[in-house]
Amino acid sequence: MYTVYEEYLSTLHRNDQYRRLGHWRQQSNTDLLDFSTNDYLNLSHHKDVILAGDSAAQRYGIGSTGSRLLSGNCPLFEEFERAIANDKKTESSLIFNSGFQANISTLACILDAKVLKAQPYVFFDKFNHSSLYQAVSLSKAELKRYHHNDINHLESLLRACHTDARPKFIVTETVFGMDGDMAPLEEIAALAKTFNAFVYLDEAHATGVFGSNGYGLSPAVDWQDIPHMIMGTFSKAIGASGGYTACHKIMRDFIVNKGAGFVYSTAPSPAVMGAAFHAWRLVKSLDKERNALQNMGNTLRNMLKDRGFNIGTSQTHIIPIILNQDTKCLKTQKALFQEGIMVSCIRPPTVSPGTSRLRIALTHHHTHQDLQRLVETLSMVVQS
Ligand SMILES: Cc1ncc(COP(=O)(O)O)c(C=O)c1O
Repeated sequence: MYTVYEEYLSTLHRNDQYRRLGHWRQQSNTDLLDFSTNDYLNLSHHKDVILAGDSAAQRYGIGSTGSRLLSGNCPLFEEFERAIANDKKTESSLIFNSGFQANISTLACILDAKVLKAQPYVFFDKFNHSSLYQAVSLSKAELKRYHHNDINHLESLLRACHTDARPKFIVTETVFGMDGDMAPLEEIAALAKTFNAFVYLDEAHATGVFGSNGYGLSPAVDWQDIPHMIMGTFSKAIGASGGYTACHKIMRDFIVNKGAGFVYSTAPSPAVMGAAFHAWRLVKSLDKERNALQNMGNTLRNMLKDRGFNIGTSQTHIIPIILNQDTKCLKTQKALFQEGIMVSCIRPPTVSPGTSRLRIALTHHHTHQDLQRLVETLSMVVQS
């Protein structure tokens, strides 16, 4: 029985697509230059964030020990949810154990054909995260993928279904995790209004990093009259783990009643949520860090372009270095590691075949010298 699984793994090995567990980034190893973490604001080791987690654990315990519907509805969670709703400018919000769980539970359940009384169409950016793909596939909705960030393609797909009364949903990340570019949210909102579509946004990589107070790109858009839900994570710039959806209170109530991943899962750890809540509030005061991060992104993009690297369409603190071939990517990652530089190597199926890349994630602790070291070393190892 194990043979078929072994065969599958052998195929991955042959195609240079076999995945191995990564390294633990070592805070104590100051020589290691880390461009692989999503801890964009370096909050995972922030003293006050850790203390907040500790004090929540002392007060409420490490584990929630039950679903929110049974014994696990810690008062801290509801307070956190009120803050998220306020900052995301929505009526309510709901927290989850992870961003992946938030997407799977929420999106799959709002696409339920029985509830909608018809099979919905899902207009879906091709570069969306796996958790969004999984959610649509669980729901059995009809998937209509549009070219990445191509608003004309999205419009033409919507127009083709215009006369069809089946419910329509548009699903996109706001900052794309593997390309570091941003979705055209104003245009998406306008299309949603014209074609009467529900908008589902994933702010995993925007949370903490974009927006006037760091609460993502969605609060700047006028969503009035457009049904919408916005998810995000606490596992990247917030430095902890967990996820949230910010939404209308009817949608929150619906997920509480229908979202299997919410109903049938133990509530998040109070310790982790205590830390995440503190980091969430802290983020408001980190404008300087956010600006530094964006400036650094601009600088690194220019440096890489000057050296002839293909950085795709990056506009943010996430910068891909597209090397195309899986083998070249792996070799370059390894060579960089030997030189004390840690980057992520991203291969299919995470990205499209032929677009394998190194993913550079900047944090506000990186310095100009770090960027220089990265670019110099990269140029050296790619040429050798
Ligand atoms: C766009 C996007 N959405 C959702 C997730 C899942 O979030 P989490 O890591 O909190 O499960 C990720 C994580 O990589 C992501 O990049």
